[in-house]
Amino acid sequence: MAAYQINSPLSDTEVPVSTIPGGNNKRYAQQRISQGTGLLDLFERANLTADLRAVEDLLLERSRSRSELITAASIHTVRSGGKRLRAAMALLAAQLGSYQLSNVIHAAASAELIHAASLVHDDLVDQAARRRGRVTVHTRWDNDVALMVGDYFFALAAAEMSLSPDPRIITFYAQAVQTIVEGELSPVMVAEPAETALSQYFYKTGAKTAVLFEAACKAGMAAGGGDDAQTNALGAYGFDVGIAFQIVDDVLDFIGDEDTLGKPAGNDLRQGTITLPLIYALEATGSPLLRALIEQDAPDDAAVEAAIAEVRTAGGVDAAMAEARRYIAQAIGHLDVFPDTPARRALIDLTLFVVERES
Ligand code: FPP
Ligand code: MG
Repeated sequence: MAAYQINSPLSDTEVPVSTIPGGNNKRYAQQRISQGTGLLDLFERANLTADLRAVEDLLLERSRSRSELITAASIHTVRSGGKRLRAAMALLAAQLGSYQLSNVIHAAASAELIHAASLVHDDLVDQAARRRGRVTVHTRWDNDVALMVGDYFFALAAAEMSLSPDPRIITFYAQAVQTIVEGELSPVMVAEPAETALSQYFYKTGAKTAVLFEAACKAGMAAGGGDDAQTNALGAYGFDVGIAFQIVDDVLDFIGDEDTLGKPAGNDLRQGTITLPLIYALEATGSPLLRALIEQDAPDDAAVEAAIAEVRTAGGVDAAMAEARRYIAQAIGHLDVFPDTPARRALIDLTLFVVERES
């Protein structure tokens, strides 16, 4: 059993053929389907389990502060887990070059620390009570603690990346954090017309989510001695995976259930957050029910459930998943410049996981 917590890894059930990304790696992707896309299996096959455990141990070690309160809230945050996708991508990116865990571990941990900081702050802003099935920091303690713990994690990330051997890594992460903050404050204002809504949605998604995947991949490649062309190729892969990841996240809000998600489904509609399935459903149908829901300040559960059903019937979920798969295919295409190695195969496996995950 791995030390890191991964909620509800995918069962190794058959993946529909329609989900196979394209690119020159298609045959490899097809072969993988029969072997399953569970994340723990994937890490095991890629020989990442021990190194991800080392990242996890480092995160826990860094959580120890002189303040007992910060220590408790930090450990609570780290133990809330997560899939550690960004760390895994940094490690695999380094494996495309010359891999040494001691060189890349700080870059991998930085990505997870920034991610943790952003989620502690995001849950505070969203007033979310639970994440990954556990109470959030501001709920368990209070808003001040959440603000400070987020800041603390961000400072830990800065200290961690300063230990990385390549100075480019600090730049990658610093620029990413600037963009994440800009993205967090860039709402999708309208659901129609689709052209405007899509441009706002993809800007926000790229900024708040994809750039950290991009930075983690670039940092990992830099730690593996990659040149600028290689780090840029990996960055483009990471960005596209990040967009697909967020689209799937938004889809899960329409098709997931609370037990699997570890947070209530339908949250986005309840909070008036406009995401891709809704935009596509409105574009397809101009549904009066959906337009009415968007106008409501605090829709009740029945209204949210009706809207979820409407979005699904209108094909909003299917269209959004098709878009996620397009990004995944594009992401895999960026790996074409690298030779066929176990690390490249594992990066392809990760993209399959991203579109097939259930939480
Ligand atoms: C989750 O979005 C939130 C993010 C991906 C980014 C949040 C960023 C900040 C709060 C800026 C602060 C950044 C740092 C580094 C301190 P969501 O609310 O759509 O998803 P959710 O359902 O998982 O909450
Ligand atoms: Mg949130």
